[in-house]
Order: sequence, then structure tokens, then C-alpha cells
Amino acid sequence: MEVKTISTTFHVANIEELSEEDRMLVEKAISQTEISYAPYSHFHVGAAVRLDNGVVLGGCNQENAAFGVSMCAERSALFAAGANYPDVAVNSVAIAARDASGLLAEPVSPCGVCRQAMVETESRYGKPLHILLYGTRHTFVINGISSLMPLAFSTF
Ligand code: THU
Repeated sequence: MEVKTISTTFHVANIEELSEEDRMLVEKAISQTEISYAPYSHFHVGAAVRLDNGVVLGGCNQENAAFGVSMCAERSALFAAGANYPDVAVNSVAIAARDASGLLAEPVSPCGVCRQAMVETESRYGKPLHILLYGTRHTFVINGISSLMPLAFSTF
């Protein structure tokens, strides 16, 4: 049997090393953690997406007493973009999270379902997503969802 290896490349940056527009996107994701609705998990996730027209939209997790109804921060931001600017490409997404001790020190990483939604965003607009995973200690910068989600499901 043949063995194949898939490797992932990403950058580890201090917040000062980010471009001004990336820093602003991260700040927006951080501010979204403050308004997330997470009365069950108390884990507050914020996301922000930047569109090609310069618009920045926020998202945050929305929980529900019926847990399966809940929505992650990333998809809340991506779907807001799709619902309000269907013809404008999403080029970047930033994610941050806080728990009872404050903002997480290590970068927060999106769940598999949100990764699949990012795969769809890339194929919809035909360009890779610039992904910023924030932690107070450092931020991971990832260019293209395939680094986070290799061998993703796709019908085309
Ligand atoms: N959550 C997100 O918002 N994004 C993710 O990528 C993973 C998890 C939310 C869902 C739930 O409200 C809380 O974090 C705890 O799982």
C-alpha cells in the first residue's frame, strides 16, 4: 500500500506582526466574544469576516436550550455574509474565544462543521480564505482552508 503524507503550513504571529486590517479583524472577533450568547457552555466564541468590498461582519456563538439548535460563531459570521452580500467574496475570517478566565492564550481552532462551511465559501467565491486564529500568546495565520481541512468533501 502506498503511503501519502499531507503537511500543513501556517504562520505563528504576534499581534503586532499582523497587518493593520488583520489586526482590526481580530479586534472585531475579540469584541464579538463579549456579546456571544453562551449561557450553557460559558464558552464565548467570536468571529469576524472581511469581504472584498471592505465590509466587516461579526458573528458569535448562539446557544439554545435544545443544544443541537446552537450555532457556532464562524458560521454565524459566514452566513451573515452570504445572507447580506451574496455576490461579494469573503476573503478573511478571524476567530477568538474566551472562557471564565478570559481570552484564551492559545489560538482557538474552528470545529469540523465550520471548516466545511469555509470550504464551501472558498469554492463559492473561487479564492482561498485568509484565516486568523487568535490567542493572547500568539495568532495562527493560515492561508487556505485546505491547511485545516485536507481531503474535504466536495461534489465538484
Ligand atoms: N463553538 C464555536 O462557536 N465555534 C467552534 O468552532 C467550536 C465551538 C461554540 C459552540 C458552543 O456554543 C461553544 O463553542 C462550546 O462548544
